[in-house]
Amino acid sequence: MALVPLNLLVTHNGKSTRQHITCVYKCGDACSKPVRNTSDNEYFGDVVKAVSRRSMLQAGGVAVLAVGAGSVLAACGTGEQPAASPSSSAPPAQTPPGMRFSSVAPNSEDVVVVADGYEQGVVISWGDPVLPNAPKFDVNAQTGAAQRGQFGFNNDFAGLLPIPSDLAGQQNHFLLVTNFEYVTPQFMFPGFNADAPTREQFDVEIAAIGMGVVEVERTPAGLKPVMGRYNRRVTADTPMTLTGPAAGTDFVKTAADPTGRTVAGTFANCSGGVTPWGTMLSGEENFHEYFGAAEGSPPPAPVDADRQDRYGIALEPSSLLWETFDPRFDLAKSPNEPNRFGYVVELNPWDPNSMPIKHSALGRLKHEGANIYVTDDGTVVVYTGDDERFDYMYKFISSKKMQPGDDAAARAHNMTLLDEGTLYVAKLSSDIPADQIDGSGKLPSKGSFAGTGTWLPLLKSGAGGQAESLVDGVTAQEAAVFTRLAADKAGATKMDRPEDFEANPKTGKIYVALTNNNERGAPGEAAPDAPNPRNDNKSGQILEITDNHAGTDFTWDLLLVCGDPAAADTYYGGFDKTKVSPISCPDNLAFDSHGNLWISTDGNALDSNDGLFAVALEGPNRGETKQFLTVPLGAETCGPIVTDDLVTVCVQHPGENDDNSIDNPLSRWPEGGNGTARPSVVAVWRGDGNIGT
Ligand code: FEO
Ligand code: CA
Ligand code: CA
Repeated sequence: MALVPLNLLVTHNGKSTRQHITCVYKCGDACSKPVRNTSDNEYFGDVVKAVSRRSMLQAGGVAVLAVGAGSVLAACGTGEQPAASPSSSAPPAQTPPGMRFSSVAPNSEDVVVVADGYEQGVVISWGDPVLPNAPKFDVNAQTGAAQRGQFGFNNDFAGLLPIPSDLAGQQNHFLLVTNFEYVTPQFMFPGFNADAPTREQFDVEIAAIGMGVVEVERTPAGLKPVMGRYNRRVTADTPMTLTGPAAGTDFVKTAADPTGRTVAGTFANCSGGVTPWGTMLSGEENFHEYFGAAEGSPPPAPVDADRQDRYGIALEPSSLLWETFDPRFDLAKSPNEPNRFGYVVELNPWDPNSMPIKHSALGRLKHEGANIYVTDDGTVVVYTGDDERFDYMYKFISSKKMQPGDDAAARAHNMTLLDEGTLYVAKLSSDIPADQIDGSGKLPSKGSFAGTGTWLPLLKSGAGGQAESLVDGVTAQEAAVFTRLAADKAGATKMDRPEDFEANPKTGKIYVALTNNNERGAPGEAAPDAPNPRNDNKSGQILEITDNHAGTDFTWDLLLVCGDPAAADTYYGGFDKTKVSPISCPDNLAFDSHGNLWISTDGNALDSNDGLFAVALEGPNRGETKQFLTVPLGAETCGPIVTDDLVTVCVQHPGENDDNSIDNPLSRWPEGGNGTARPSVVAVWRGDGNIGT
């Protein structure tokens, strides 16, 4: 398939294609509601706009960082090259290995479209059995008990962990670990009535979200599920251990758990990560929407309304009405229950009986995911984004060192690493003159959006839940449970919805997907700044951080300012924009073994289905962007995994559209014909076993 002619994009409507029903059930309709971050944090570029570069360089610690920024840019060749001027005089450089495939054109097919020459197959779909005795999927015979043994709904994150051959007795077996983010009952239950959900539907929903572990076998036809001994479903009521400074505090005690240490379940599990010690991390993201209260409920003491507002928790009926089936979801009866969600969950998939752990030392926010970088001395650095408009980027530096090896003793030690260390939030700055950041996305005179940054300390956690707040006027326990408010006080930089983080295994640089922000620059909201340079940002950007991983300083620049390549407000790393695939609303990130960045999208604003893209990072092709696949109508591309011989994606919410339902479907994928649209994991490969070479 040829590269995309730019004139295919002239009809785009300039809006994310995310449907309102997706917003309602995925994120509690966050985009239709007020911005949750009402703090007045100043962006550093605004503070120093009247200060000369020389005086900035003399301003203590900033000096080194500012110089560092310049050298990093020079080394990376990001360029003095304006986005609008293609490098026409230079001969086209060769696309890096890993990206040598024919780009998939934007389209609106109701299938997964893959690059020419590649094959694909569904690995597993919503409702497929993962535990012995679970029934086959039958859309007309759903029960909570059946769903507890079946693959969940709306798969999001996925990780593949090789099973050592001595454990499985065979080679080419893996554990596929997944998140199931949210339910849309209109696309699950025929004849669903949103005003009168049934107890049985509630039971199915509780069981359809959470996490999953499924053994899979690599075969010539992709990945095949196996009824293996590690197979497991984690649901919205699986018991979990809360660790870190929040555990045992009054904020998290409930009638059902007076100790405040054992939480029932996990939900809103968006992205995640796999750890070097073979466990899975899962981000609890839009947890607020699972809680509600009857209209007119009195405010329950002793809950602080400002704290609830900051997380979008409201005393009103929820969309799913779970509060009508179980009092723990009723804010008037269980006001502390939401304080037990919003954490990073660690699951040990090698012990199906293990209790997952909620690590409160990593803070409570709307975690997109959590990804780890290990320094040479074994310090573990966890990066995590808070996916809401104007929310923040965080990192955690462990105080203990990782033990190498994947034996049970090393894993047990390493599963304590995320309980002891220091949590930070990012503050970004830049010496780009303020008048060059006008909200249009136009490149500043230096040729790129770039600057420096500092990680501001929030919370130091120690053994046994001991902790020290590093923010004046905030206790350690408050910093762990109401982390957003601590970060507001610290003066973090408001970002355009920080989603996934990923470290480049070749260079150690950190990449962040900033997906979009329809309120950037709106009256009363934060103005555009160098890292978030566009008003009403519909298509998002990719931030590149050169981090002093175990330290507190960094430099940054924008790798991509996404959107229509023909538009003046986009930037593709300085690469010739007439030769790229258009990308919009970056969400999840992955790396291939060659060091290329792979990006999946959520809500493409360019009138195409969402897709998976590869982006070159180093050398003359930096910024080259190629679409490898697209997902079916109404779907979002999630959880990419890129290995040398296989790519997998999670196809989330196929067919989700305001005007449709399971009774009036937009999508029939994957079955086609009269089939039911089912979220599924898809594998893509090539006959010769080499991806992109
Ligand atoms: Fe669930 Fe941040 O997307
Ligand atoms: Ca996501
Ligand atoms: Ca997203």
